[in-house]
Amino acid sequence: MRKGFVLWFTGLSGSGKSTLSKMVEERLLERGVPVEVLDGDEVRLNLSKGLGFSKEDRDTNIRRIGYVAKLLSRNGACAITAAISPYREIRDEVRKSVQERAAFVEAYCECSIEKLVERDVKGLYKKALAGEIANFTGVSDPYEPPLNPEVVCHTGEETSEASLGRILKTLEMMDLIPKDPSAEYSAEEEAEVAKRLKDLGYLG
Ligand code: ADX
Repeated sequence: MRKGFVLWFTGLSGSGKSTLSKMVEERLLERGVPVEVLDGDEVRLNLSKGLGFSKEDRDTNIRRIGYVAKLLSRNGACAITAAISPYREIRDEVRKSVQERAAFVEAYCECSIEKLVERDVKGLYKKALAGEIANFTGVSDPYEPPLNPEVVCHTGEETSEASLGRILKTLEMMDLIPKDPSAEYSAEEEAEVAKRLKDLGYLG
């Protein structure tokens, strides 16, 4: 059985977590990898129904998502999560627990707040800035970026295809998904992924 893994997206609201998680899901299914997506917005309609956005409720939400992701990944599946997951400590707690039996790949969707406000797909930043939504991440609530994520996607500056390519390359290099011989990555892109993984102690 291939080693299961969790692909954990983190980043501000609107930074591309859901979009990228769906794109990765599609590509993994094509390669025969069993995969489930746990999307923040959706989880809050069922598993975490009734939870709000206090630190305590967010921590509970993330621990629940982490728990399900752990169960899936330890059985050889890939669990992709797409929640803001603003607190470093809880993400690292989930990482530790997943790594007992599977791999944990943190993908940071990095995007400036200016860009997010400008895009404002859900219209929430406008409301948050007007004080109509309290404790909004990045505006009036903290977001702690990961210190050593396995992948960084600069979603404000690069295309989603470029982010997707880097994620797939990372998963390939970590030996978590089968290689796609037809996929095209530039030598530069490959070297960048290899360097990050080497710095994190993954490659020999
Ligand atoms: S998390 O902090 O617990 O990880 P989660 O990803 O589940 O958050 O939910 C975030 C989504 O809830 C946002 O994309 C946005 O649509 C909505 N939302 C509503 N209120 C807030 C808030 N105060 N802060 C952040 N997101 C909010």
